[in-house]
Amino acid sequence: MGKVHVFDHPLIQHKLTFIRDVNTGTKEFRELVDEVATLMAYEITRDMPLQKTEVETPVMMAESYVLAGKKLGIVPILRAGLGMVEGILELIPAAKVGHIGLYRDPETLKPVEYYAKLPSDVGEREFIVVDPMLATGGSAVAAIDSLKARGATNIKFMCLIAAPEGVQVLADAHPDVDIYIAALDEKLNEHGYIVPGLGDAGDRLFGTK
Ligand code: URA
Repeated sequence: MGKVHVFDHPLIQHKLTFIRDVNTGTKEFRELVDEVATLMAYEITRDMPLQKTEVETPVMMAESYVLAGKKLGIVPILRAGLGMVEGILELIPAAKVGHIGLYRDPETLKPVEYYAKLPSDVGEREFIVVDPMLATGGSAVAAIDSLKARGATNIKFMCLIAAPEGVQVLADAHPDVDIYIAALDEKLNEHGYIVPGLGDAGDRLFGTK
């Protein structure tokens, strides 16, 4: 089973409080999600492999390090996942961005893919799939199914808030995928919202409703 990492960094937890707050307006909400995505990207890249290189400083030649290993791809699940992309790109500007769009079939209640556009070299990249909320886990599982079907072998999942139900579903379906979250909440309610959560992440990011 993949590991579940809860990022309990004080700055992340502080900002998450204001993200949850019902009185936080769209502009501030968007900025805070962006900032937390940057902080989470900093944490998630902690284990990136390095390789030795040489650099000429004004003083002398020195041994130093640069990133090695696979190139990165970020895949937001539309539409709320979009809110986390810019924050990650702040730290990893060379990452490519794919998009996966899913809707829930009203009869089967299963996620159906309506859009997928990914970098051409899927098999050579490490991917971070992002969605602010891991609720039932259905969308995350479907998005990762889709990425794997196109050749991805190295995937992480990152969200702000997760419900235990969603973590279990994702971990069971994709035991090779590590899950990175800022907070593990109590449960899902009867409407599929995470409790206490933050409400509808897409609506709060884009000012819809
Ligand atoms: N999606 C959201 O935006 N919020 C939830 O609480 C659950 C799913």
